[in-house]
Amino acid sequence: PRIVVLISGTGSNLQALIESTRAPGHPGRIVAVGSNRPDAAGLQRAEQAGIETFVVDHTTYRDRASFDADLLRKLEALNPDAIVLAGFMRILTEDFVRHFRGRLINIHPSLLPKYQGLNTHQRALDAGDATHGTSVHFVTEELDGGPVIARAEVPVLENDTADTLAARVKAREHVLYPIILRWFCEGRIALGNDEVLFDGSPL
Ligand code: GRF
Repeated sequence: PRIVVLISGTGSNLQALIESTRAPGHPGRIVAVGSNRPDAAGLQRAEQAGIETFVVDHTTYRDRASFDADLLRKLEALNPDAIVLAGFMRILTEDFVRHFRGRLINIHPSLLPKYQGLNTHQRALDAGDATHGTSVHFVTEELDGGPVIARAEVPVLENDTADTLAARVKAREHVLYPIILRWFCEGRIALGNDEVLFDGSPL
């Protein structure tokens, strides 16, 4: 399977995905890494790994629809089987999401359905939650609301700040996301009508 990863920032999840897809026997290959920000640090990680990069800079488009249309064209030219969002900080239009239905996966730093949207770590702290975590899900028209494939949980510790909690969550993301992507590439995970299928059966 041909994988395209979309990022906006640091790309630590991208790094984990690059390394894991290079393991012997991995069926997938990251064919390109795209960013909406020309200065995303993750682009350098891709270049260092010898992976093609591209930028679709959202600030140069008049609206979301025209940005998404260009991104879609760019992606279509890469013929992807999987589009993996790894810290991609743009909301995608319904047309875009529908076009790539079943091939679009995202990682969101909360135990979904809790804390969709931004500032998830601070919100978990403010709520006094004992646990927090991350979720990998299929992207559907509902923002951060698509069917969840898997979650990883971490404890919230007494002296946590949003930053210390985020770091603990990221460490789990770097383990979880590669596993899920590998299963997806092996054909074990698919999007059904509105649920995740694992080895052909609803999760
Ligand atoms: C991750 O925490 C991910 O869950 C969220 O954005 C962050 C990206 O971090 N969607 P990185 O760029 O992979 O380091």
